Amino acid sequence: MRLSIVLIVVLLLGCQKKAIEPMKPKLKSDKIVIAHRGASGYLPEHTIAAKAMAYAMQPDYIEQDLVLSKDNIPIVLHDIYLDEVTDVAEKFPNRKREDGRYYVIDFAYEELKLLQVLERFDPKTGQQVYPRRFPKGKSSFQLHSLYEEIELIQGLNQSTTNDIGIYPEIKKPAFHLKEGKDISQIVLDVLRLYGYSDKEDNCILQCFDNNELKRIRQELQSELFLVQLIESEVTKEHLEAFSSYADGVGPWYKVVSPQFIKEAQELGLKIHGYTFRADDLGDFQDFDALFDYGFNILNLDGVFTDHPDKVVSYLHHLNSEKQDSETSSE
Ligand code: G3P
Ligand code: CA
Repeated sequence: MRLSIVLIVVLLLGCQKKAIEPMKPKLKSDKIVIAHRGASGYLPEHTIAAKAMAYAMQPDYIEQDLVLSKDNIPIVLHDIYLDEVTDVAEKFPNRKREDGRYYVIDFAYEELKLLQVLERFDPKTGQQVYPRRFPKGKSSFQLHSLYEEIELIQGLNQSTTNDIGIYPEIKKPAFHLKEGKDISQIVLDVLRLYGYSDKEDNCILQCFDNNELKRIRQELQSELFLVQLIESEVTKEHLEAFSSYADGVGPWYKVVSPQFIKEAQELGLKIHGYTFRADDLGDFQDFDALFDYGFNILNLDGVFTDHPDKVVSYLHHLNSEKQDSETSSE
């Protein structure tokens, strides 16, 4: 009897120790990990669950793609459409436009909150894009605003005493302007409200639209760290133009060449490549081979990844090895 009580106490203490174990401190790295749409390789992209899971993996930044609702609330969502990641077609069948698409901008925040978020799928076939990821339609996930996400990340920064940054992206500013909305100004106001206004603050703002990013710097006078996203090859002249208003560039890693790296580095631009996915390796044999290419061959300063745990772990090992070899050569 006494033995079994001791056993239970030992087991309970073991569980308690595990439950209150603090997060392991990260080895300092000059490379950064950006959780792309959260831990989107494991949970439906841009859900609060995917962001909380990403946070626990200790990336440097968590990404927020942003679009506006009808009532001007920045919603954390990759597309201006709702039909590839929600059940909008079932809940609001009469709200599609002539092109057959459902637009976030046609829905008020309270209506958007009624939708279920699903693992990304092809609306024509209903099939999910990454079949081995979280099963579409299981459990329950909702859309959320930039306010809610910042409060989650800042709240976790307080309760875990970590300091993880945000990495918002202004999506389709020209589309928003055509709809009568200045998404950049609205997002900058929200960021300022939560303490993000200059390069000292743990926030990087990104955009594909070069005219808009330039406007954010020059007309809207943002002092945030700005990253110009790039989806195809660019010339040295393009990079020079980007460096007049941006602090970094975010290229698709497949369009990055050694020459691009050299030119961007000479202009003092940081380079954050996208998107590293363990289940979409292209020509690479495994995820480590892709990391090796990104960090050791291309010498990227950071990567966007759907699998932040794997990149954090890779960099941890890389830094341990570096520190060991530095110690042994002293
Ligand atoms: O913002 C970096 C990366 O996320 C760009 O691609 O289309 O996933 O926003 P996308
Ligand atoms: Ca993005």
